[in-house]
Amino acid sequence: MCGIVGYIGHRPCIQIVFDGLKKMEYRGYDSAGIAVLDNGQIALSKESGKIDNLKPSIAKLPQGATVGIGHTRWATHGLPTRENAHPHEAEHLALIHNGIIENYKELKLELINQGIHFRSETDTEVIAHLVSLELKRTPKPIEALQKVIKRLEGAFSVAFIVDSIPDQIFVAKQGSPLVIGLGDKEVFFGSDITAFVNYTQKAIFLQDGDIAMVKADGITLWDKTGKEFTPKITHVQWSPGSADKQGFRHYMLKEIHEQPRVVSATTQALVKDNKLDPTALGLDKIDLKKIKSVHIVACGTAYYAGMLAKYFMEPLLGLSVNVELASEFRYRDPFFFPNGETLLMAISQSGETADTLACVKHAKDKGCQIFSICNVAYSSIHRESHGSLLMFAGPEIGVASTKAFTSQVLCAYLWTLGAAQQLGRVPTVELDAALQDLKTLPLYLDQALNAEESIIELASKLYQYPNFLFIGRGMSSVIALEGALKLKEISYIHAEGYAAGELKHGPIALVDKQIPIVAIAPHDRYYEKTLSNVEEICAREGQVYGIGDDKDQRLKEICVQVIPCPSVKNPVFQAILSTVGVQFLAYHIAVKRGTDVDQPRNLAKSVTVE
Ligand code: F6R
Repeated sequence: MCGIVGYIGHRPCIQIVFDGLKKMEYRGYDSAGIAVLDNGQIALSKESGKIDNLKPSIAKLPQGATVGIGHTRWATHGLPTRENAHPHEAEHLALIHNGIIENYKELKLELINQGIHFRSETDTEVIAHLVSLELKRTPKPIEALQKVIKRLEGAFSVAFIVDSIPDQIFVAKQGSPLVIGLGDKEVFFGSDITAFVNYTQKAIFLQDGDIAMVKADGITLWDKTGKEFTPKITHVQWSPGSADKQGFRHYMLKEIHEQPRVVSATTQALVKDNKLDPTALGLDKIDLKKIKSVHIVACGTAYYAGMLAKYFMEPLLGLSVNVELASEFRYRDPFFFPNGETLLMAISQSGETADTLACVKHAKDKGCQIFSICNVAYSSIHRESHGSLLMFAGPEIGVASTKAFTSQVLCAYLWTLGAAQQLGRVPTVELDAALQDLKTLPLYLDQALNAEESIIELASKLYQYPNFLFIGRGMSSVIALEGALKLKEISYIHAEGYAAGELKHGPIALVDKQIPIVAIAPHDRYYEKTLSNVEEICAREGQVYGIGDDKDQRLKEICVQVIPCPSVKNPVFQAILSTVGVQFLAYHIAVKRGTDVDQPRNLAKSVTVE
């Protein structure tokens, strides 16, 4: 978690660093700070709370400074106070850090015994003092950094400036992401490319163990063995503006509305001449014929995308598919067939989620084939995988995942269809029908988005209820889980998602007039069963709000209201369409309750700590 940014060049840096921090705010937002280097002096501004709280104090920084670093924090060690906010200072330097230093307690004790006074409770301050002490022994900051890094255990990316070195910034990466952006006589860096993509699309994705000396006219890099190397420059696809709100009130709203475009972009990239492109799907990197079983690992919404995938993957591939929370999977002893006969599929928007990454590394050590579906190129999970499919969602900034979920489900589905085709397990007519339906999915998504007005009205009726229940069957049971997660994370309302068939095994005891129940009831093979469950709720005076076809008279009769959702034949596409209703409902209820939709309390977008 936490976001770091930096700039060195010919322009005044404060606004650039501040804007970069705003882009990084999704990674953590409980305190923030900026340090600049001007005329041999470090000037610093930091505050608790949101990045905007910095505005008054950055106005007092030297406005002409052209070298600066910034940090937005998601607290791990110590409360989100001003003292614990980064940058942290030690003699002659200011330093920012993303990640966790696991052995900081021993190091801190050692430093205290040497008479060092600590001003914060963070693990970060330890690094600042260690570097500062090393700088007394060597005039070369890179050497100092190399020495210090050898002593640190954990995952981190760090950057620091030294008051006597006016034209350089020093950075290192070990486990936490760090990307450098190359401009014209200016260099940017950040925890991800959105920090600078409005200025340059030329990026260098640092690898674990890399350290760099960053100057306005270029960078020098050393790898983990201390060897200097020439970096690979990547031209990133995300365009300027793609990480902006573009007129929407919140990123989350913009991202919900982007879903038709995400589907079109995915189709364009993966389907060529009405056929799935096996190379674009990453199928060429996996030995499909070998696979005897599949484990899908992920967290949160990505885990629900995995749960959906099980519904289509098992029948299409003819393999048993286990879907598991990465935080559980990593600490048990799962069974793996040897020699690449087990495929581990990791699904992760950020590609940095610590638990998912740990599963990937573990399974790789055990000889599994690793395939990932990620949204962020060169993210740790992407890089650790034998094969991967990069999603076409563009940057997702809202902490609550929306378009990434749609993209994950779609990518997993198309990958599975492609794999099934290679294995000779899917009849051509079935495949052609799926690809045909895919073409019209963006239009149906547009229709689903048209329900927003009626959902705003519904939200204003429901927003004060303290509890919600979401139900559905088949893939809709997964959408119920996703709906409950979305509602709780951004509105702070307690919500549960249940497979409708489970109601009578317990949760039906909750039913009364005080708990709105959202039933996802498309016209699919579970329809009759779902309606019976809704009837059972109505018989107990429960109030049910349906998500389904608004021409469906039966559904309309038994529900208080139906959120309209187009009906389509393909069950995966139907699930994607139903999701729009739960996303909008959560969003508009949260807006009515006045919560911070894009940055809900206690959460961060990229969970790089356990
Ligand atoms: C919920 C949400 C989270 C993420 C989860 C995994 O709206 O966004 O539950 O889905 O933290 O993140 P990634 O996909 O980055 O691994």
